[in-house]
Amino acid sequence: MTLISVRDLRVRIGERVIADVPELDVARGECVAVVGESGSGKSTTLLSILGLVEGAQISGSIEAFGVDVRTASRSRLREIRGAKIALVMQSPQAALNPTLRLGTLLRRALKRHGVAGAEAERRTAQAVADVMLEPAILRRYPHEVSGGQAQRFALALALALGAEVILADEPTSALDVTVQAEVVAVLRRLRAERGLAVLLVSHDLALVSIVADRVLVMREGRVVESGPAAEVFARPRDPYTRELIAAVPVLPEADRVHD
Ligand SMILES: Nc1ncnc2c1ncn2[C@@H]1O[C@H](COP(=O)(O)OP(=O)(O)OP(=O)(O)O)[C@@H](O)[C@H]1O
Ligand SMILES: [Mg+2]
Repeated sequence: MTLISVRDLRVRIGERVIADVPELDVARGECVAVVGESGSGKSTTLLSILGLVEGAQISGSIEAFGVDVRTASRSRLREIRGAKIALVMQSPQAALNPTLRLGTLLRRALKRHGVAGAEAERRTAQAVADVMLEPAILRRYPHEVSGGQAQRFALALALALGAEVILADEPTSALDVTVQAEVVAVLRRLRAERGLAVLLVSHDLALVSIVADRVLVMREGRVVESGPAAEVFARPRDPYTRELIAAVPVLPEADRVHD
């Protein structure tokens, strides 16, 4: 089942095209990765799906859960954003209110989506367990947890709200290799267990080669290559993709992430 479907997306600022994506689909349980150099339009593509690109002219169609994101009402968009689709950013700590304990943050987010009481407690416990955090973490403030814990908490928050798609923008770049492997392992398990879909933006080709089913390679706002990850990595057609892959040896740590 296709959860997100992008066709002929073109994001322009003035005369400049900052993202031109003919086709991007994300199906249930699938991980699609967007790779490419800095400024190639990866984040723009990701944020377009949530209708979060400001000050640009956007054309094409973006469907999420059968809803046209570009024409949907605000309330319909709100329903999808945050509930069905969650954005996990590079530095989740920065996005968390520093004055609230993680448990309070989680409860408030659930309440905003109409979930309270015993159901909120149940979902909180389940989500924290899903990402392999200790329940005690809920009593801590954002600055009292590590980068990897904050990231897993951001994931837990998304899961508690019932997210079916995670949009992850450089989710592991701030983390050391061991913690990266943990976050990746959690994502892999959730995909297998409950069909979570992941759209991943990453500079880390070693990571992408492990987790992605399909890959889009972007350069200067355009998709220069796309296809099944195994194919793209084994036989890159575009010279730029070849260059990217040649520059990044696959980490030996990568193997340990396999289930
Ligand atoms: N709101 C904006 N106004 C003007 N230019 C923008 C805006 N948002 C993005 N850009 C430009 O569009 C291009 C693509 O940006 P984008 O953030 O999508 O790149 P990226 O691939 O995510 O890069 P990075 O890997 O550094 O995060 C960049 O040149 C950026 O400067
Ligand atoms: Mg970016």
